[in-house]
Amino acid sequence: MKFDTPAGPNPIDRLAVIGRPTDRIDGPLKTSGTATYAYEHHHVAPDQAYGVIVGSAIAKGRIAALHLDEARACPGVLAIVTHENAGPLGKGAFYVGRPLAGPEIQHYHQAIALVVAETFEQAREAAALVRADYEEANGSFELADALGDAVTPGTKPDVTVGDFAAAFAAAPVTLDERYTTPDQSHAMMEPHATVAVWDGDRLTIWAAVQIVAWSRRDLANILDMPEEKIRIVASFIGGGFGGKGTVSADAVLASLGARVAGRAVKVAQARPLMFNNTTHRAATIQRIRLGAERDGTLTAIAHESWSGNLPDGMTETAAEQTRLLYAGAHRLVTHRRAVLDLPEASALRAPGEAPGMMALEVAMDEMAEKLGIDPVEFRIINDTQVDPEKPERTFSKRALVECLRTGADRFGWSARSTVPGALREGRWLIGTGMAAAIRGAPLGTSAARVRLEADGRVVVETDMTDIGTGTYTIIGQTAAEMMGVPLSQVTVRLGDSDFPVSVGSGGQWGANCSTAGVYAACVKLREAVAQRLGFNATDAVFDDGQVSAGNRRVPLADAAAAGALTGEDEIEFADLAERYAQQTFGAHFCEVAVDTFTGEIRIRRMLAVCAAGRILNPKAARSQIIGGMTMGAGAALTEELVVDRTRGFFVNHDLASYEVPVHADIPHQEVIFLDETDPVASPMKAKGVGELGISGVAAAVANAVHNATGVRVRDYPVTLDKLL
Ligand code: MOS
Repeated sequence: MKFDTPAGPNPIDRLAVIGRPTDRIDGPLKTSGTATYAYEHHHVAPDQAYGVIVGSAIAKGRIAALHLDEARACPGVLAIVTHENAGPLGKGAFYVGRPLAGPEIQHYHQAIALVVAETFEQAREAAALVRADYEEANGSFELADALGDAVTPGTKPDVTVGDFAAAFAAAPVTLDERYTTPDQSHAMMEPHATVAVWDGDRLTIWAAVQIVAWSRRDLANILDMPEEKIRIVASFIGGGFGGKGTVSADAVLASLGARVAGRAVKVAQARPLMFNNTTHRAATIQRIRLGAERDGTLTAIAHESWSGNLPDGMTETAAEQTRLLYAGAHRLVTHRRAVLDLPEASALRAPGEAPGMMALEVAMDEMAEKLGIDPVEFRIINDTQVDPEKPERTFSKRALVECLRTGADRFGWSARSTVPGALREGRWLIGTGMAAAIRGAPLGTSAARVRLEADGRVVVETDMTDIGTGTYTIIGQTAAEMMGVPLSQVTVRLGDSDFPVSVGSGGQWGANCSTAGVYAACVKLREAVAQRLGFNATDAVFDDGQVSAGNRRVPLADAAAAGALTGEDEIEFADLAERYAQQTFGAHFCEVAVDTFTGEIRIRRMLAVCAAGRILNPKAARSQIIGGMTMGAGAALTEELVVDRTRGFFVNHDLASYEVPVHADIPHQEVIFLDETDPVASPMKAKGVGELGISGVAAAVANAVHNATGVRVRDYPVTLDKLL
């Protein structure tokens, strides 16, 4: 199905199943510990062996020699995979870091070996005895020192509108500040893990990956084998946040280990390895300049962002959202990428917006203060209903102002103290802060297959993944709505490369696009049902397990009595994404208390108001938003990968020292969804919320800390030492 005009009325609009707060259909499996995650596929091959990855002890240089004799002599060792016996490896299309180093080393803890043994303990013991001689080279590990050679990424040329320099010089009120955000880790619950089994020249892996099709493509390229000979199964995934976009070292090395050992092999990244072996979010340095009239109208906006990565790695596009968020006639947006020899930087929940809004929305708070205008009003004054770079291009939907007003009202914003550091409760200073939120709503082709079985059950199959977001449920809801059956009558099968190719989980596109693919497949199935039952497909109504038109009403299951019926299709998005700016919007509010004596910062309450098209499952969507808010609180206050500037690695590479928020850090969170549908987004009229929830949050927290204390911190995380 080609989606090339905004959606009209369709069966989803009945909202019998869609749009209702719905428990996860996979919830019982998860709470009972019977959802099978990648590493838990013990049953797929009874003789499976264990692989343990050995990471490089240097950040840059070469392996001069590997000493494997001691490891080989250990009990139970079956094979050791290194660059010397792995054969040439190709390149994937998403990550630039190679899954197996040698002889060159690209970054610290890059895999230099996989030790395969009968048991995990044996593999771990032998892995500790793998020794390497290195020729260490000087690396570049400090972003601030690497800016001189930074390049403009080909995909992100400088954007200039009007004459920024002149407008900024002429503006009566200006701001020119520099903000920094640190390297951050996904720190998902489930470490990357794979079980690999060869059957002749066919490979099957059970792996924790967000996008099955990318993983299959990349694994095929790396191993130089046809995609058709690879099957990937990713039924349950314990969090990804962008860190499991495609195959990582565990999947490639498990496949190689299984080939060399002639056995099924399972590999999990040990937690202390994962932080440096897999990807992270790049640190940024951002300069923001704002110029405004005294009435608060922005006339000049410049946002320049620098980040680093391995050569040809992804750029953290932290200034990108600034192209669309506020009006302003004269504009400049630039990105620069420096070469760093740190582990590879890649996508982490709301790549671009998450660190970008940490800077922009503090700058807006500072500017509002300079102007003497309320921060909510300042943002409303500068709202735009058109793309500031192309005024003829409108937003598909843009309810930012309504988010701001609703949030201010619900939060009790008008009662705040406008004088920083003025509100005290005993030893605590109390402050409130807010920030706007914006995050793109990208679109991608997504396919599904839907089958009506003889007993009336509806079975959906697509390689779409559920990374903990609730995809199983919204896909089931979509099929139930389309086929007019209760959710309990739908079986959802996900995450298998044998199923039709979906968009996968990423970029908060999964919810809208994957359900739109199911919608398209259901349209086909409805046609097949109508044809078999002798209905006109356009007149037939599917509800209550019946198909009806005029005064004829037939049980849906009757259509499959003579054999199951299948509908398969993909949703393909035409140029609506170019014709309309498609974004999600929100407003975040936060109250903090800061201990006057110690500087300890406690979040007291948080509120998010979101406008993100139709909310398919308000219960799961709320969970996505509060998860994002929690991650944003971490970004504001605790999360930072600390770089060892001489050896080039992340020092705090475990969950004891990379501090993420816990329940006690987040006492009260409220989420409001505006009642919105977006017919431009898809037939579902939905978007996504997984990344909107984090965008802007950290700035709202930082702004609240400023309101409480009068101290403006522009260097994240906002830790207590920066307040004293
Ligand atoms: Mo995402 S960070 O695009 O999974």
